[in-house]
Amino acid sequence: MLTEEQIREALQNIEDPDLHKSIVDTGGIREIKIKEDNVSLKIALAKTGTAEQMQVQQKIVQVVKEAGAESVGLRFDTLSDEEVRELGGPQEEEKASLLSEDNPVEFIAVTSGKGGVGKSTVSVNIAVALANAGKKVGIIDADIYGFSVPDMMGIEQRPTVQGETIYPVERFGVKVISMGFFVEDNAPVVWRGPMLGKMLNNFFNEVEWGDLDYLILDLPPGTGDVALDVHTMLPECKELVVTTPHATAAFVAARAGAMAIKTNHQILGVIENMAYFESKKTGEREYIFGQGGGERLTEELKTEMLGQIPLGQPEVDQEDFAPSVYESEHPIGKIYNDITDRIMEKIGK
Ligand SMILES: Nc1ncnc2c1ncn2[C@@H]1O[C@H](COP(=O)(O)OP(=O)(O)OP(=O)(O)O)[C@@H](O)[C@H]1O
Ligand SMILES: [Mg+2]
Repeated sequence: MLTEEQIREALQNIEDPDLHKSIVDTGGIREIKIKEDNVSLKIALAKTGTAEQMQVQQKIVQVVKEAGAESVGLRFDTLSDEEVRELGGPQEEEKASLLSEDNPVEFIAVTSGKGGVGKSTVSVNIAVALANAGKKVGIIDADIYGFSVPDMMGIEQRPTVQGETIYPVERFGVKVISMGFFVEDNAPVVWRGPMLGKMLNNFFNEVEWGDLDYLILDLPPGTGDVALDVHTMLPECKELVVTTPHATAAFVAARAGAMAIKTNHQILGVIENMAYFESKKTGEREYIFGQGGGERLTEELKTEMLGQIPLGQPEVDQEDFAPSVYESEHPIGKIYNDITDRIMEKIGK
């Protein structure tokens, strides 16, 4: 009858392909079970799912059979990161985190108090305008429940995932990450508090952004959890406050602005969206949602008005469909270009 000792001896010459040490010495033999002459083993390696693992597998079966086993059952597991480190194994290469202090990226959060005032539309168009100006730009759709950026930009691909790394989707020169990429068939997202924070963390740390000049964050409406997380995670984040000209929207937006001030985030300025409707026929402007909300907000937040965007839809381009992206030559696209110029000037980048 085979003993555990004999099996260990037989395995002594099997090396962990990444650590170049005997799997006996790495502590990789997690379990040995012997039933009559049938042996079942659980082996931990530094890396699994590799071609080398297949070779190790064959060798193990061979030597254990040579030691007298009738049959060999094998299961694999991975050594913990700590074990690998202690064994002097290959370290996971540190991804240059977006959050590391020496990363020169400028964070710009787009916020508002109320929902539906155009944060996502503004985020997307500012991002595209920055990319058109030759900047390296990313956008995080931080509206985990109400993600809309992929649709607005007409994105149909999904990010590629390699191991632990997520590669963002690129559209109009902008790198995009959204919860929408990780949800099946537009199903509602039911994650709560702690998961949310984690998701945002993943977007910063697990996504391979490469070098970025600007990262735009499209925030969910209001001053809830995600907005708070962003404020604490990104002490250097700058903010754009979006409002409509309506008094209520501006009043509520002031709260979002107040939160920025409390957390020492610089407010770049106010963007008044849906500011008016301009008739194509007569050129006459109608102030459908009232007037003055944006102006009042700039006074309250002691900041400047970066631009007033009228009501209007982008031209539909069947070839390159992106329902919320205005072309650079579109009158509204031009306003976005001006706003973006001012932002770059203010940040000095
Ligand atoms: N200037 C505009 N002219 C016409 N429609 C607009 C304009 N700005 C935004 N919209 C439309 O208004 C709706 C709300 O805009 P958007 O989703 O950008 O707002 P939001 O503040 O991000 O909303 P939420 O709070 O739900 O995230 C969208 O359907 C968008 O296409
Ligand atoms: Mg939105």
